[in-house]
Amino acid sequence: MLERLQKILSQAGVASRREAEGMITAGRVAVNGAVVTELGSKADPNRDRITLDGRPVRLAEERLYILLNKPVGYVTTMKDPQGRPIVTSLLKGVKERVFPVGRLDYNTEGLLLLTNDGEWANTLAHPRHEVDKEYLVRVRGSVSPEQVRRLAEGVDLEEGRTAPARVHVVRESENNTWLSVTIHEGRYRQVRRMCEAVSLSVVRLKRSRYGSVEIGKLRPGEYRLLTADEVARLRREGGSPAERGAKAPGR
Ligand code: URA
Repeated sequence: MLERLQKILSQAGVASRREAEGMITAGRVAVNGAVVTELGSKADPNRDRITLDGRPVRLAEERLYILLNKPVGYVTTMKDPQGRPIVTSLLKGVKERVFPVGRLDYNTEGLLLLTNDGEWANTLAHPRHEVDKEYLVRVRGSVSPEQVRRLAEGVDLEEGRTAPARVHVVRESENNTWLSVTIHEGRYRQVRRMCEAVSLSVVRLKRSRYGSVEIGKLRPGEYRLLTADEVARLRREGGSPAERGAKAPGR
């Protein structure tokens, strides 16, 4: 199949798409021995011989699926203008260029998936696809049944009401309450803003589950590869509702 050269290069993990464009216009990329400098140019990654600086571009990149326990104090973007630490710097020993599936705030910790499989990531992060995400939220003081009910039913945020959530109190101490909040949307700072909307002050926020995959015993900063079974399960869970229905047992 013909694909744009910059896409082929970025999928091969050689560079970002933008950087790949620079390589092309600089005359560093050749297809079947002929230098190509035009940005719209296409090639067939399976049939054409693509080289960068005369060296063949390795196309069959291994797909990697990583579960990281993100510590507080890291950004999930690939670059930070403020120079804050970036989550991928925690993946010592991972040579492939992986990127986070969705995002977690700088101050949020817990389960973050990273991969170099763009298609898998898009399926999961797609807002219509409704993968459950569970968060443990420590809030100041106590939480009333009314506050739990409002969070669960949906609260009005600037851009509209949140979808119903599953919410329950996990633990109470003298000064704090731990809530479990399960949502399937992924709006910007959603859990924090939901809590603010019902006058709860968040002291700590940790994602503990993504679909059927749990964070388990990983300590902050530790990571592991997902098993093949987890990768396949998440792919199913992230499928569109029609796909999930079609694959459900007994249908
Ligand atoms: N909700 C938030 O408020 N922050 C996150 O990082 C994730 C969900």
